[in-house]
Order: sequence, then C-alpha cells, then structure tokens
Amino acid sequence: MSTLIVRPSGPLEGEIPIGGAKNSVLKLMAATVLAEGTFVLRNVPRIADVAWMGDLLTHMGLTVEVGDHALTITTPADVTPEAPYELVERMRASIVVLGPLLARHGEAHVALPGGDDFGPRPIDMHLKALEELGAEVTFEHGFVHARAAQLTGTRLLLEFPSVGATENALMAAVLAKGTTVIDNAAREAELADLASFLNHMGARIRGAGSSTITVEGVETLHPVDHTVVADRIEAATYLAAVGAAGGEVILRDAVPAHMTMLVQKLGEMGVRCSPDGDGLWAMARHRLRSVDVSTLPYPGLATDYKPLLVAMLTVADGVGIVTENLFAGRWRYVDDLVRMGADIRTESHHAVVRGVPRLSGAPVRAPDIRAGAALAVAGLAAEGETAIADAHHIDRGYEDFVGKLRGVGADVERRD
Ligand code: EPU
Repeated sequence: MSTLIVRPSGPLEGEIPIGGAKNSVLKLMAATVLAEGTFVLRNVPRIADVAWMGDLLTHMGLTVEVGDHALTITTPADVTPEAPYELVERMRASIVVLGPLLARHGEAHVALPGGDDFGPRPIDMHLKALEELGAEVTFEHGFVHARAAQLTGTRLLLEFPSVGATENALMAAVLAKGTTVIDNAAREAELADLASFLNHMGARIRGAGSSTITVEGVETLHPVDHTVVADRIEAATYLAAVGAAGGEVILRDAVPAHMTMLVQKLGEMGVRCSPDGDGLWAMARHRLRSVDVSTLPYPGLATDYKPLLVAMLTVADGVGIVTENLFAGRWRYVDDLVRMGADIRTESHHAVVRGVPRLSGAPVRAPDIRAGAALAVAGLAAEGETAIADAHHIDRGYEDFVGKLRGVGADVERRD
C-alpha cells in the first residue's frame, strides 16, 4: 500500500511527456487474439492495467514480452478462450476479450465483471450485439459463455454509444461473414485507434470515429506493428494540475484535436490552451472562474475528466453545477474533497460546487484511478499536506505520476 504526499505547489513550469492511452492499449492487446503471429505495440505506458492485461493474454496462451514502452505479443494458432474471475475482477476492461475470442475461436468464457466503484456497470449491450451477430450466450457459475460457429454481419443499433460494447462488436464483426453496421457507435479517439489497428491487420472498417461504423468481414487477419494514440485523459490530468496550481506547461505529444471540448471548457475557466508543435501548451495565471459541467459520450466532456474538473472548481471563483450522465455513482471522491474544505453538495447525478479561496490538506483515500488523480490536483491547491492513501489506484492509469509532476515543480512524493 502506498501513499501519495502532495503539498501546496505552483506555479508549475516546464514540459510533461504524455504517454500512450490506457484505454486504447488495453483494447489493442485484446485485439491481438484475432490473428496468429507476432505483433509489436509501441508508445505503451508502463502502468498496472497493461501488466494485468498482459497476465490475461498469458493465461490465454499468448506470449507477452515487455520492452521499452513497447510490447511484443505472439499469438499462437490455438488459445485458451477464457478470462478467469481473478483477472476480470482486477480490471473490468478484460471484458473486451469476449468479441475477439468469439470471432477467432468460436467460443469465449469470460467471468462476469460485476459492479465497481462507479456503481453497477452492466454488459448487456455487449452481449446483445454479440447475440445479434449470431452468438449463443449463456451464464453459468459467474461466467458468460458465448459460442458461434460463424458470426454473421448484421445491423446493430446500440441503445447508448457504449465504448466497450462498440469495441466488442467491432472486434467480433471483423471476422464475421458479410457486412455489419454499428449505429450509435462510440466515437472515442481510442476507438478510432482500434479501428486503424484492425484495418492495418487487414480488416475492412469504415466510419470509425463517427456514430456509424461499417465493417465488411474478412476471412483472416495478420499481425502488425502499431503506435498507440496519446492519452487524452492523462493530458487532461496535467491540464487540471496547471489550472489548480497555476503555471505554464507544454504537454509533449498530447493531441489537442482529441480534447477540443475540454480545451473549450478550460478556456472558459481561465486556462489558456493552444496547440504547440507536437503537443499542447497551457497557461493559468489567475484564480479560475467556475463553469457548469455536463458529462457526455465523446466528443462531449468525458466522464473521466469530471473528477479533475470538480477538483478545479473547488477553488474557482463562483458556483459550478456538475451533471454526471454516464456513471451515476461516480462521486466517491467528493467526501474527501469536502474533508479538504471544499463546498460540494451532491444530489443523484448532480453536484453543486461553490469555490473556496483555498483548500486545506488532509488525509484522504483514492477510490479509483481518476478520482485519485483528482485528489492530487486538489492537494496542489491546498494549504499543508494532503496524504492520499491507496495511491496504487493511480498507478493503474498513470506512468510515473510523481516524476511527471515533480518535473514541472510540484511538491509531491510517494511513501510506500
Ligand atoms: N452501459 C450499459 N450496458 C452496457 C455497457 C455500458 O448500460 O452493456 C452503460 C454504463 O453503465 C455506463 C455507460 O453505458 O453508464 C457508458 O459505459 P461504456 O461502456 O461507454 O464504458 P466502458 O467501456 O465500460 C470506458 C473506459 C472508462 C470510461 C468510459 C466512458 C476503458 C477501459 N474504460 O469504459 O474509463 O469512463 O469508457 O468513457 O476504456 C478509466 O479510464 O478510468 C475509465 C473508467
């Protein structure tokens, strides 16, 4: 168990390198199941979730070699089409092996993930899409079992643009017979990265990144060498740090085009951002202004940005109303922000955040990846010391969180 110690910091000055996206690389790793042979993934962040996905692939019979921000993954002709509970429980994203296993091996046995810190997280849309593609889905002993001798392309209309359901449907459809159309598909940058990876493997996907994706099934795919897209949520985290602590930084390798709504919102709050060479420049020199925030699927404001925006609003001038439209239970860090002196009232999926001039450091606990990072952002703008217990949650999604913050002058350290 480790604790992150954060002391009042700022102005932050310098450059922060942004790594590959967690929410892309995990799906690319799952997609390697789709073809026999050796893949290379580059710009891979050194984070716990990547190691766990590596454990899952290894369990399934793949070989995973870890290099310098790279993975070499070798997929044999036959894999064990199973994701056990110990691994799925650790990381819900394991569910994305369902589509590729089914497509290539005709069966998949994946433990049901259950809820998590955001509240219930059903997978009904994933399963409905796979059933519509021709899979037979049953449940037994906490596992979902999916079988299909041959998937067949069809028209899928997702009830909600779920990221995971779109990814599972896409990875199943690439080897299906005939054409699949996924309507109301998720449009995230990571999804477009997955589609581009699959197309390099020989898939025939059009429209990824828009809400209608068309997939013409092919018979086989081949391994490729691919560089993972930049992590917009990691970039957002350091933008929030600059907003809360003040300063001027360059986020090297961040892709501003994947963060336009956030950049607009930050601009309203007083954080100036603009594209800079291979990255994004950001500056905040004055107390932030409050804004209202409403989370929506991409390209709307991501739910993952919300804890970071709430942390910034706690010290902004005015009142901000925050509405969570994706995960009703994603407020667990709020009580800890209140313990740090924030003025926040939550009511179902809304929060009213009244900015205070200064927070006051306190012992708190990271309930999940983004909330842990948000507590650290709040700690930068607090008097005294903030000690964030369970900092291992932050390691799931951030490589060298402490080093990157220290690199721009933040007073943070790790106590193991
Ligand atoms: N939903 C259903 N049924 C389903 C699938 C989703 O009701 O079958 C609901 C969910 O309960 C939620 C909404 O649809 O209310 C959106 O869920 P989605 O499926 O889009 O999310 P996800 O694929 O489970 C990914 C990211 C999350 C991110 C969300 C939303 C990964 C590994 N996870 O989750 O990222 O918050 O999309 O953008 O890609 C994180 O990085 O810390 C993280 C939690």
